[in-house]
Amino acid sequence: MSDDPNKKNALRLSRRHFLQSAGAMVGTSVLPAQAGAAAVVPPAVGNAAPAPSLERVTLQVNGAAHALMIEPRVTLLDALREHLGLMGTKKGCDRGQCGACTVLVNGRRINSCLTLAIMHEADRITTIEGIGQPGHLHPMQAAFIEHDGFQCGYCTPGQICSAVAMLDEAKRGDASAVTADVRKPGAALGADEIRERMSGNLCRCGAYANIVSAIADVDRKGGRG
Ligand code: FES
Ligand code: FES
Repeated sequence: MSDDPNKKNALRLSRRHFLQSAGAMVGTSVLPAQAGAAAVVPPAVGNAAPAPSLERVTLQVNGAAHALMIEPRVTLLDALREHLGLMGTKKGCDRGQCGACTVLVNGRRINSCLTLAIMHEADRITTIEGIGQPGHLHPMQAAFIEHDGFQCGYCTPGQICSAVAMLDEAKRGDASAVTADVRKPGAALGADEIRERMSGNLCRCGAYANIVSAIADVDRKGGRG
């Protein structure tokens, strides 16, 4: 840049002039949009989005009745977590792919993200909080601790709920895709059977080997049912 003070002033003036001109141009291009926005007519009261309709539902969770007023679209998972504060049930994918949200409904495992709360008025719902509590752990919970069946623990409530119901299914004689002889229900579950039957529960930490060990241990000790 030149050392001449007169030239410096001239440069500053021309830069300021340029910026003012550019600002005016930008303002010009924005003005019509602003004018258009100002012209938007607010929706009439009659056109306002209707308030969500609420439904009364009573959920039987872990042996206690909970009366709720909820929108019909609320999933069982959100009802448990957001309305009842039972945060043990986890939301992983919210689309039936990970099993983190597994709970028991009338003793059967389901993905609570795939079902609506209002569909379970008369059902017996068990979450991980109802499976066992510190000091009164379910054998499956104790086995997961003993076998180090978790790392971050996010999938663990779903894994445990799923495993408890899975052993009940095996006890009933339900076959899986890898059952060698469906005429022999109740046989002790091998690792392949456990992996197949637990395939709906994903573990991003990859703690599968220890999860299988924990479940096999409970099965061996007669922890089914
Ligand atoms: S959160 Fe329900 S299956 Fe993943
Ligand atoms: S222990 Fe982390 S996802 Fe399973």
